[in-house]
Amino acid sequence: MKNVLVTGASGGIGTRLRVLLKGVYPHLRWSDLKSPPDLAAGEDFVRADLADMGQVETAVAGIDGIVHLGGFSVEGPWDTILNANIIGCYNLFEAARRAGVKRIVFASSNHAVGFYPRRRRIGTDAPVRPDSRYGVSKAFGEALGALYAFKHGLAVTCIRIGNFGDAPIDERRLSIWIKPEDLVQLIRIGLEHPKIRHEIFFGTSDNVRGWWDNEAAFRFGYRPQGRSEDHRDAALAAQAKLAPDRIGDWYQGGTFCGAEYDGDPDLSWV
Ligand SMILES: NC(=O)c1ccc[n+]([C@@H]2O[C@H](COP(=O)([O-])OP(=O)(O)OC[C@H]3O[C@@H](n4cnc5c(N)ncnc54)[C@H](O)[C@@H]3O)[C@@H](O)[C@H]2O)c1
Repeated sequence: MKNVLVTGASGGIGTRLRVLLKGVYPHLRWSDLKSPPDLAAGEDFVRADLADMGQVETAVAGIDGIVHLGGFSVEGPWDTILNANIIGCYNLFEAARRAGVKRIVFASSNHAVGFYPRRRRIGTDAPVRPDSRYGVSKAFGEALGALYAFKHGLAVTCIRIGNFGDAPIDERRLSIWIKPEDLVQLIRIGLEHPKIRHEIFFGTSDNVRGWWDNEAAFRFGYRPQGRSEDHRDAALAAQAKLAPDRIGDWYQGGTFCGAEYDGDPDLSWV
């Protein structure tokens, strides 16, 4: 990989990657709706709205591999999700195919499978159970990735990111936390491993309370360094200050599951 584009460059993860990926690839290009406030003179930045195919084509020109972080990153109104995450994701994959891009790493989310109860352990072969319109858009991106991998020969890696940050901030995050350096490891597998076609990994560190079987990532050499249990006391103290959430505390997706919920009040069957 010589020329790597990262979308969503101005967001929380993109901002960290601008530091953590420095020097890893010969040419990094960054793209977003808005430019990062601390953009340095030598950095290659292309402003592009993912919902605009022409702008996306400009961003992907001359690129070998893409880390696709851009989009609306929480639950939102349908039009917002449709434009940023569904049309935007389609434009990104289609522009990449036209430009001869070889690899895409797609930032999927735990919210693609949020409606599994916490008592279940799931692998990446479990059917999707999105907990929100946002989660549906991530399941869409994973499916689109499979289409472009198997029909058009791109190497696509979907990372179902749990929660990215320096430390897990509550009990749920003890199960799904990912340390920034561990996400970089997964991204690099997606951009560099010779055997990738279409893979789905869980973006999670070494969390003993985890709900996910991440065997697929381990097979590709992933060796997470972060251990959420090292942060247990602080995370549980923060949890103790939160109000109970009957639906959100039952399901893996947390508050995304409880929001707008008018389903079965009896949870014992799931
Ligand atoms: N942070 C996490 O813990 C986490 C967890 C699961 C999944 N993810 C996914 O990882 C990605 C990055 O997450 P983040 O926390 O940095 O999100 P973020 O919201 O901080 O950043 C997203 C970026 O995308 C840009 N964007 C939004 N709409 C756009 C459009 N139409 N065109 C171009 N750019 C647009 C925004 O300007 C923003 O800078 C997202 O796709 C998110 O869904 C993140």
